[in-house]
Amino acid sequence: STKKLWGGRFQQQASKWVDEFGASISFDQQMADEDIEGSLAHVKMLGHTKILDAADVKKIVAGLEALQQELHEGKLHFTVENEDIHMNLEALLTEKIGPVAGKLHTARSRNDQVATDFHLYLKNRLPKIVNEITTLQKTLVAMAEKNVETVMPGYTHLQHAQPISYGHYLMAYYQMLKRDKERFTFNMTHTDIMPLGAAALAGTTFPIDREYTAKELGFGQVYANSLDAVSDRDFALEFLSNSAILMLHLSRFCEEISMWVSHEFKYLELSDAYTTGSSIMPQKKNPDMAELIRGKSGRVYGHLMALLSTMKSLPLAYNKDLQEDKEGVFDTVKTLLPSLKVFNGMLKTAKPNIERMKQATENDFSNATELADYLAAKGVPFREAHGIVGQLVLKGLQTHQNLQDMSLEQLKEASPKIEADVYHDLKSEVAVQRRHSLGGTGFDQVKLQIKNAKQELGED
Ligand code: ARG
Repeated sequence: STKKLWGGRFQQQASKWVDEFGASISFDQQMADEDIEGSLAHVKMLGHTKILDAADVKKIVAGLEALQQELHEGKLHFTVENEDIHMNLEALLTEKIGPVAGKLHTARSRNDQVATDFHLYLKNRLPKIVNEITTLQKTLVAMAEKNVETVMPGYTHLQHAQPISYGHYLMAYYQMLKRDKERFTFNMTHTDIMPLGAAALAGTTFPIDREYTAKELGFGQVYANSLDAVSDRDFALEFLSNSAILMLHLSRFCEEISMWVSHEFKYLELSDAYTTGSSIMPQKKNPDMAELIRGKSGRVYGHLMALLSTMKSLPLAYNKDLQEDKEGVFDTVKTLLPSLKVFNGMLKTAKPNIERMKQATENDFSNATELADYLAAKGVPFREAHGIVGQLVLKGLQTHQNLQDMSLEQLKEASPKIEADVYHDLKSEVAVQRRHSLGGTGFDQVKLQIKNAKQELGED
C-alpha cells in the first residue's frame, strides 16, 4: 500500500506532478472553516447516535476545535500530498490526536463532505452579497430623492427620446437590484439544503441522524435523495447565473457613467477618489472603476458558462470533474463584493451636472411627442398628429429652430388647433412632470416609487 489516505489498494505512487494536477488544496482551503464546522457537526451526530462512544467523540471534538483555532491564527500548513482540504484536515487531526482521528470519517464520504462544505461556503456569503446590494439601493434612493425634479434626456437607440427625471433613471436601477436581491434570496433556499449523510452516493448502513446534523449546522432542509445530494450543483449554477445578471446590471450602469463623464456629455462628474489619471496626458481623469466593473462582468459570465459546460454530460453520481465547480464560484464572490462596494462609493460621490442635463433637453426635439399628444388631446387622430409634428421637425431642422422656438403663426400653419398654451407643454420639465401614469417619470410617480422603496428598505 502507498502512504495516501486511500492508499490501501495501491502499489505504485503517482508522480508529484500528477498529484499536483489532481490536487484542489490550492483553492479549496478557502472552505477550511466550513470543513471543520461540518466535521464537528458530523462527529457530534456520531456521538448522539452512539455510532462512536463519548470518549472518542470528545477527543475528536477537542482536536477539531484546536485545528479551528490554529486555522484562525494562520498556523495550519496544507500540502499537495494530502490532495484536498478534507484529507489535509484529517491528516492534521491525526497528527494532533492520533489514530482515533480515523473514526471521524465513519458514515461519511468526501463526496457528501465537499458538497456540504460548498453549500456552507455559499450560505455564509449570500447574506453579505444581499447586504451590499441593499447598501447600493439605499444610495440610489437617497440620490433619487434629491433628483426627482432633475430633468435629463431619456434615450432610446442612444438618441434623445423624451425628457425624464434623473431620479426616475436612478430608481430604474433600484428596481433591477430589487429583483437581483430576490434572486439571491431564492438562491438561499436551494443553498440551505444539506448533502451530508448521502455518504459516497447511496447513503450508509450506520444509523445516522441527518436531521440532527442539519440542525447543528443550521441547514433548513436535508437532500431527500443521496444521488442528487452528491451530484448536483444547481445551487452554485443559480448563484453564478444570479451573479451574471447582477454584474450585467452594474455593467450597463457603468457604461452610462463612462459616457456621461465624457466631454461630449458632461452629465456627471466623478470624485477624484474613484478616478485615475494618465501617465502621459496630464489633463486626463479616467473613469477606471466604472470600466473595471464593466470589464469584470465578463469573467462572471465565463464562470457561469464554465460550470454549465463542466456539468452538462456528467453521469450520476460524483465525478472528479465536479472539483472544477469551486474556483469560479470563489472568484465570483471575490468579484461581486468589491464591485458592489466600489460602485456604491463611486455613485455616492458622483455629482450630476443639473444645468447641463436640463440644457440637453432644451436643444433638441425630445418634446415632439408632447406636441403630438397636445394635438391628439384636441381630437386630432394620433397618427395624423404624428405626421404634422414630423413635418414641423423637418422644417425646424432646415431652419435651425426647435419646436418651442417657432412662432405661433408657424405652428398654426401646421395645424390651426395649436394655441399659445402649447409653449407650456413644450417645456421639458412640464413634459416630465405631466407623465402621471403609474410607473412613469412624472414627479409624483417618482416620489411614489421612492416612498415604496423606502418602505421596502425599512427606511420609512
Ligand atoms: N476535492 C474533491 C472535490 O473537490 C473532493 C471530493 C473527492 N471525492 C472523490 N471521490 N475523489 O470534488
